[in-house]
Amino acid sequence: MTEIPEHLLERSRARRAAMGGGDGGAGDGGGDASGAGESSAAPATTAAAAPAAASMPAHPAVAEEPSAPPPSPMVQAYNNRRKIPFWAMPVLAMIPVWAYVYVGTLEAPPEGPGPAALGAELYAGNGCAGCHGSTGGGGVGPAFTSGAIYETWPSFEDHFEWVRLGSNGWSAEKGDTYGANDNPVAGGMPGFAEESISDAELIYVVLHERELGGENPDTEDQVRLEVVAEYLFEHPDLTLEEAIEEAEAEGLFELAAEAGE
Ligand code: HEC
Repeated sequence: MTEIPEHLLERSRARRAAMGGGDGGAGDGGGDASGAGESSAAPATTAAAAPAAASMPAHPAVAEEPSAPPPSPMVQAYNNRRKIPFWAMPVLAMIPVWAYVYVGTLEAPPEGPGPAALGAELYAGNGCAGCHGSTGGGGVGPAFTSGAIYETWPSFEDHFEWVRLGSNGWSAEKGDTYGANDNPVAGGMPGFAEESISDAELIYVVLHERELGGENPDTEDQVRLEVVAEYLFEHPDLTLEEAIEEAEAEGLFELAAEAGE
């Protein structure tokens, strides 16, 4: 009689038990020998027949599965949700920053120099600096410094008109004296007509001359001048009169005055 090694018998018994087939135990050696032969080929077949085996109720692992409760609809929804890829997180985090920067670009960009810088350029370019000094200290023409400009011209609008007309034009239209101190018109100041310089440009020059004069003691006049200069900067084809009217209608003087308080 052939001796079957004990470990083969053990394997055979275990497999039969797993397949649900009764006793692998105490049978005769011959039967067990063939059983051992079958069972040695068995792993391949069981593996291939896995789905079939799955339906076998005796298999403990498979038997448990159908009894697992289905996930609740909330859990299902959570599992099926569209997931934000992790790499998108920094992108999402930047959106508020981006929005802030983007909104900033929607405001009118400061294109080149503003009214004050343009005024300085025009003051030099139109000969004003040549007769009144590059810093307004005077020369052929009177000085503007140390508040002199505000003493003569408390209102920037009169200041503007003087430069437009010049000595001769002023005498012809207004009389023999000019300014708040009634200075006699001595002559020598050329007029700057609209053909040579626009209202917008002339207001920049006036703004600059008043800066050379020091601080404006009349805050309201200063605010109005700055608002009008800014308005003409944005609408350079308007006349001074039109710009004042429109700025007034838009309530810009009041707004600027409130902002300055
Ligand atoms: C050719 C020289 C000359 C040039 C150029 C000139 N001015 Fe005059 N300016 C004068 C003279 C002279 C007076 C005094 C006029 C008078 O008494 O009739 C004067 C007077 C003035 C006054 C009044 C001064 C005051 O406070 O008593 C202002 C303001 C003024 N000029 C602005 C300007 C501006 C702005 C420009 C350039 C756009 C300019 N001037 C260019 C010679 C000049």
